[in-house]
Amino acid sequence: MRKLVVGNWKMHGGLDANAALLGALYAAGRQACPFAVCVPFPYLQQAQALLGSSSVAWGAQDLSEHASGAYTGEVSGAMLKDFACRYVIVGHSERRALFGDTDERVAAKVGAAISVKLQPILCVGETLGEREAGVTEAVVERQLAAVFARCGAEALAACVIAYEPVWAIGTGKTASPEQAQAVHAFIRARLSAWCGEDVAAAMTILYGGSVKPQNAAELFAQADIDGGLIGGASLVAGDFLAIVAAAAS
Ligand code: 13P
Repeated sequence: MRKLVVGNWKMHGGLDANAALLGALYAAGRQACPFAVCVPFPYLQQAQALLGSSSVAWGAQDLSEHASGAYTGEVSGAMLKDFACRYVIVGHSERRALFGDTDERVAAKVGAAISVKLQPILCVGETLGEREAGVTEAVVERQLAAVFARCGAEALAACVIAYEPVWAIGTGKTASPEQAQAVHAFIRARLSAWCGEDVAAAMTILYGGSVKPQNAAELFAQADIDGGLIGGASLVAGDFLAIVAAAAS
């Protein structure tokens, strides 16, 4: 399984800082592990301009479930395609917790992305309370099942899945490699049941939550961890590239 590392800049950046960061990624050239950055909407054109001739892919952090219309403030999948996005993050826990993205809306957004040939990075994961209550697998299954029910096996199989335990995001608390692997194996088993074993085996399941150069190699060594979705560390070129290197080794 070839690994993938994706940076999620969240609501960080500015034209000058981005130019330096994107320039460093461009200068790093082709790496053994493919990598991408998901940037705020206003900077998609900058990402396209500065990365367009490189092997680095880019994408957005959300999209509307609607194709067009009177939806003030929303951004459609077709608009993202205008800037040659390859990926779009869907269902990040921050959008689920803060912006009303229900399982059903997340599924609709996956459908909207697939319909314009954007590859969704579908985020799933449990809160600390859910982990402590022993319902991690039930939560992750429910989040995935909503997409399967609405969009079908083919669309689910077209997603990159990102397992991000909410309690590990931006907290410095990483899931242990064993904790993460256990959930990744569960996810792959569910995907296998829905999409078929061969398809599930070829799908990319990323881990996200306080991934740093110091812990990346150990996480990526797990059998079902196919790379990472990186928040804070993706804003520092050296750290992000060190994580990409860890995925390649
Ligand atoms: P951190 O790497 O900052 O914990 O963020 C993870 C994340 O939410 C990526 O989508």
